[in-house]
Amino acid sequence: MGTIPQEIIDRILERVDIVEVISEYVQLKRAGRSHKACCPFHNEKTASFVVSPDKQIYHCFGCGAGGNVLNFVMKYENLEFPDAVRKLALRAGVEIPVERGRQGEGPSLYSRIHEINKLAAAFFQNNLRSEKGRGALDYLRSRGIENQTLSDFRLGYALDDWEALRKYLESRKVPVDMVRKAGLSIESDKGRNDYDRFRNRVIFPIFDDRDNIVAFGGRVMDKALPKYINSPETPVYSKSNVLYGLNFSKRGIREKGYAILVEGYMDVVIPFQQGVKNVVATSGTALTPRQADILKRQASTAVLIFDADQAGEAASLRGLDILVEKGMGVRIAALPKGEDPDTFVRKFGREAFEEVAEKAKDLLDYKLELLLKKFGPRSVGTICDEMLPTISRVENAVVRSDYLTRLAEKLGIHEASLRYEIGKVKPDYSYHYASEARIEGSVRNYRSSEVHLLGMAITERKYFEKLDRELGLGMFKDPAVKRVMRSVGEMYAAGDGDINASKLSSRLEGDEQAKQAFMEGLAKADITEEKDRVLEDCILRVRKENRDEEIKILTIRLKEAQDSRDDAGVRDLADRINKLYKERAHRHA
Ligand code: UTP
Ligand code: MN
Repeated sequence: MGTIPQEIIDRILERVDIVEVISEYVQLKRAGRSHKACCPFHNEKTASFVVSPDKQIYHCFGCGAGGNVLNFVMKYENLEFPDAVRKLALRAGVEIPVERGRQGEGPSLYSRIHEINKLAAAFFQNNLRSEKGRGALDYLRSRGIENQTLSDFRLGYALDDWEALRKYLESRKVPVDMVRKAGLSIESDKGRNDYDRFRNRVIFPIFDDRDNIVAFGGRVMDKALPKYINSPETPVYSKSNVLYGLNFSKRGIREKGYAILVEGYMDVVIPFQQGVKNVVATSGTALTPRQADILKRQASTAVLIFDADQAGEAASLRGLDILVEKGMGVRIAALPKGEDPDTFVRKFGREAFEEVAEKAKDLLDYKLELLLKKFGPRSVGTICDEMLPTISRVENAVVRSDYLTRLAEKLGIHEASLRYEIGKVKPDYSYHYASEARIEGSVRNYRSSEVHLLGMAITERKYFEKLDRELGLGMFKDPAVKRVMRSVGEMYAAGDGDINASKLSSRLEGDEQAKQAFMEGLAKADITEEKDRVLEDCILRVRKENRDEEIKILTIRLKEAQDSRDDAGVRDLADRINKLYKERAHRHA
């Protein structure tokens, strides 16, 4: 085996979190600072499998299995060490130098899976041209796809059959376990053959930026659910690391100088067909930091064009901060209600779509408009709390400063107060266990109450509703807590009673701070007795924090008003401050 340098392995271990990885395989439950579960490696009824986030190791007190995250992945996925390293490297965004294959070693697992995917894609493409693929071809035509596009994107069709692909691959000498490793088949009950993952769906091969086929997406041709299924995570594919269409659009992106970022497969395919050649899709996940890295290699600016629905809006907001943090220029456009890039281009044509992209709003205008719509023009404090962390992420000092000037102007407040406030924003809102102690007391206090409330809102709908009613979600100051709350609200609004924590966690994919807040919140809620009383307490504390903060801001503005001899302003501000002090005294009584 070509050896992988230790420093590469170390870098990977620094970047992946064992709890995050294991919780993708095993449902972990927080227990103090650790996490517990029933051991996946032996049969047991009580949880003796422990994962320690501090130590980044796992251990089973029942069967003695244990080690770091690499050991876990090796054991669970039945991988050789280098393959486990590669899998995690992909996830961590660490590149492994090309190994020099030794004689007799044969091709790597990587290239074997790429080969298998290529065979599968060719098989799917052929199906589309066969009698059985008639319906699929009609479907794709009905969506406006032309022949050239079918072959450009290598679209195909998975037969309505449980084993057509596996049998085909077997006939091409691909071992069953490799078909499974490529994510193309699924292990069946004992004694039965694996069955094909993709059946009776049109197929979109997913490429990496070197044109290897790393995965597939498959769409139903009617209203059945799920609308799309995708390959699982495999040694060559991690969904947070791939942007759909990038291999095709690289050139167009370079030429245009910016990338258009959309959500779905069809939102790449159709615009591309019509001549918009700088589109890529996140494919259903919120943009991840790793995707942003990949994009940044091709373009310095991204234009986000999302569906005009709530999910699209939330996805774009999260994506925004990530891109800004990576030092990319960002502009955003929303399409008319009910349209996505695919339908928009087909209805209104390429020029109209390009115009939307050209006219996309800049970050400040877009986000501010959203916030004003959401909280109303009076909620200056809340709006600042949401805007400042985003602005503070902007690397370029000139741009940052310009944003502050414009924000102050639009909100009708003094720039000086904004500059004072942004000085308090932590450039990085990652509150990790280790660093928590270092954060000054007051920050920790308010964050701790907020996280606690968050946990309770996730575990019980009635708590969420109470918070929404009595406090208003705009009262939360921690941006990560706020982002999770927003998702929680969306999930309750979508209507299925209880919140599934792993679903929530996958909604937060790519937003590490949010995930962290979410885990902490759950852990806190887990160990809380007398929930109703604690809830009241926390609500009071959050209110108090907000009031104190408001007093601070108003006091600064009061000084400014005094300096500029703005008597009416002074009176007004003094009144408001007094009121808040009174309220405070009252509460403490
Ligand atoms: P959308 O639901 O917006 O679908 O999901 P779409 O792209 O407009 O699909 P069409 O036009 O109806 O064919 C956006 C993207 O989210 C992912 C897919 O990548 C999809 O393109 N997705 C969606 C899934 O992975 N699974 C699903 O069940 C739905
Ligand atoms: Mn669509």
